[in-house]
Amino acid sequence: MKVLVLFDVARPADPNEAFSPESLKQEDKPTEADVLESLRRLGHEVETLAVFDNVTRIVDKLTSLGPDVVFNLSESFYHDRAHEPNITALLDLMKVRYTGSGSDALLLCKDKALAKKVLAYHHVRLPHFVVSHRAHPLRRLRRFAYPAFVKPVCEDASDGICRASFAKDEKEAIERARFIHQKFNTDALIEEYIEGRELYLSVLGNNRLTVFPAREIFFDQMPEDAPKFATFHAKWNDSYRKKWGITNGPAKPLPEGVPGHLSELARKVYRLLKIRGFGRIDVRLTATGDVYVIEANPNPCLAQDEDFAQSACLGGVSYDTLIQEILNTAFA
Ligand SMILES: Nc1ncnc2c1ncn2[C@@H]1O[C@H](COP(=O)(O)OP(=O)(O)O)[C@@H](O)[C@H]1O
Ligand SMILES: [Mg+2]
Repeated sequence: MKVLVLFDVARPADPNEAFSPESLKQEDKPTEADVLESLRRLGHEVETLAVFDNVTRIVDKLTSLGPDVVFNLSESFYHDRAHEPNITALLDLMKVRYTGSGSDALLLCKDKALAKKVLAYHHVRLPHFVVSHRAHPLRRLRRFAYPAFVKPVCEDASDGICRASFAKDEKEAIERARFIHQKFNTDALIEEYIEGRELYLSVLGNNRLTVFPAREIFFDQMPEDAPKFATFHAKWNDSYRKKWGITNGPAKPLPEGVPGHLSELARKVYRLLKIRGFGRIDVRLTATGDVYVIEANPNPCLAQDEDFAQSACLGGVSYDTLIQEILNTAFA
């Protein structure tokens, strides 16, 4: 197949600039490098297109190349992640096939409060939550059970998640929400903090869905009584991860009945939020065996060493097979 790998860069890009796995690694684009290498191993005819700020160039490239399918790894336009759904909207308008979710799921999941409202309507168990609006910040939290967890409504990849996201009382929660309004210029989601194991559920498909074996994040060297959650540093900072013994790996054994429940739940959330191709549903499992949905991620990270690809691998699906399957879902 003729495949165009589409991704974003943080600088003006020439549409004819060709990227190699090596140059992508140098630009700190490990996912793009892994996917490009895999598509080449699979024998596809592959070209790359980096997007930054020029719509005409995307249109021209798609028109002149006429790819069978776009492998969509783009997440932003002009530095702004809010534009992620607009790129797939453009592909739809041009009647180009692409991998992963469409604008509907991207828009829905990007607004975490909106996604939660949809899930709550369908009786999916979620942390209790309220929204503090930037234009009308909350001053009080009535009938709220602490600790709380406060995060930007519209950020990704743990931007805005740090130790201070954990709020032990009303004062800390309100302060953190105010900080989010100012620093991120956005609304804040104030949630009930769910103490428990954090599991990542990777789902592949459109109609018939495969749920791969769960992965889990471990916090081995953290003090027993410290709240444990995936801050920006806990996710991305290797020396911080080393210091606190933070690792991601196959989920430790789960209580009886839980794996089946997790698969059902992951499928349900995936469908309700209109996710297509592949997605990752993040949940927390409490000591009493209750499962809470924390976040749904359409188009999760596809780097070979990250949770999605590693879950597939646990399920017996090699990286190249996974990349081919994701391409296939664009045609289903
Ligand atoms: N309600 C919550 N209770 C406990 N931990 C939470 C809660 N919400 C988020 N977290 C922690 O914060 C991390 C990041 O939050 P998430 O909503 O997934 O945002 P992001 O889009 O940045 O990944 C989660 O992986 C989890 O560890
Ligand atoms: Mg998350």
